[in-house]
Amino acid sequence: MAVYVFGRTDAARDGPQPFDPGRHMRQVADLVGQVFADELDARGRSALRDMAFAGRLSPYLGGLISQALFSDYVSGYVWTENGHVIGNVSLQPVDQGGLRWRISNVAVAPEHRGRGIAKALMAETLHEVARHGGSWALLQVRADNPVAHQLYLGLGFTDVCREGVWRLPMRPNPLPPLNPAVPLEPLRTLTGAEWWELARAARPPLAQWAEPLDAGRYRLGPAKVAGEWLARWAGFCRVERWAAWQGQQLMGVVESVANLAGSTDTLRFAVLPQARGTLEHSLVVRGLHSLAGPSWRPVLVEHSGDHSEGVAALGAAGFRIQRDLVTMRRAITPADKR
Ligand SMILES: CC(C)(COP(=O)(O)OP(=O)(O)OC[C@H]1O[C@@H](n2cnc3c(N)ncnc32)[C@H](O)[C@@H]1OP(=O)(O)O)[C@@H](O)C(=O)NCCC(=O)NCCS
Repeated sequence: MAVYVFGRTDAARDGPQPFDPGRHMRQVADLVGQVFADELDARGRSALRDMAFAGRLSPYLGGLISQALFSDYVSGYVWTENGHVIGNVSLQPVDQGGLRWRISNVAVAPEHRGRGIAKALMAETLHEVARHGGSWALLQVRADNPVAHQLYLGLGFTDVCREGVWRLPMRPNPLPPLNPAVPLEPLRTLTGAEWWELARAARPPLAQWAEPLDAGRYRLGPAKVAGEWLARWAGFCRVERWAAWQGQQLMGVVESVANLAGSTDTLRFAVLPQARGTLEHSLVVRGLHSLAGPSWRPVLVEHSGDHSEGVAALGAAGFRIQRDLVTMRRAITPADKR
């Protein structure tokens, strides 16, 4: 099999150009791996390995394999110099209708920054969204990345919502006490429908617009309950859900998942907007009590950074922010069509 390695010079075509999986995949993987070395999680690293692998093959085969590996349509722009990719912006449709598009992997090699490369690649990418008939461009940027945030603000993006991941490395000693003034009881529901309604109501509308919650993560039902029971019996995983009710109204829920055979546990919680500030602390503490057992694993929580009372409750329980992402959006205007 012919193996084609990138690196040939093609200076005539230098500058911004549409991302071509067959020609650019490997170099984009290298650039993104270099620029985001500190940020990539295991999944990101594995995706990059796949990209680099596909990019090592011939343009034709590499293109085919990349399509198979990355089932979503991926496009975008690269900037090359002497045939080498030194800047990249990736683009993917978010929804089937192609109204919203996600921009990612915005990266310029360190020695080429400050020359307007990112700005030019972003402008080309917004132009491509317009050509596809898209209405919105979306992206995420780390809250502690003012350079990139400024780049996007300058291009007309605005903040939509904030999402974070918090981590509690050590078991609090002693565990914070449960608050008897906030009675919680095991969540009893046949389908999870009330929990799903609560989670949707708790999520800020713009956050729900940008990244709708996955209903499947809230659906319960006999099969799921039986599966959880079995996993608990086998000593594999222990799931608990505790709820705060006001009459028939579900006001707050916390779910704890103790991965007895894994390396981290998780908590997630939601509070109805009208109960904000009254339940968060009790839910987080309840979750920690549910996780407490003979062994302790670090606890991860994914939660909206816009829910200030929730963020405060996590901080008070000893959680520290691990990833703090701002979602931004920009409407596509007739001017983007050029
Ligand atoms: C963010 C990044 C892509 C910018 O690339 P770049 O080619 O240097 O950016 P540009 O030269 O096109 O500058 C565009 C805008 O970014 C901002 N910017 C760029 N460098 C900056 C700096 N050192 N300080 C403050 N703002 C800066 C400015 O708003 C600038 O607009 P201006 O020139 O009108 O002031 C690049 O720094 C990078 O790869 N960083 C690491 C990866 C990263 O953080 N990616 C974003 C992930 S969301």
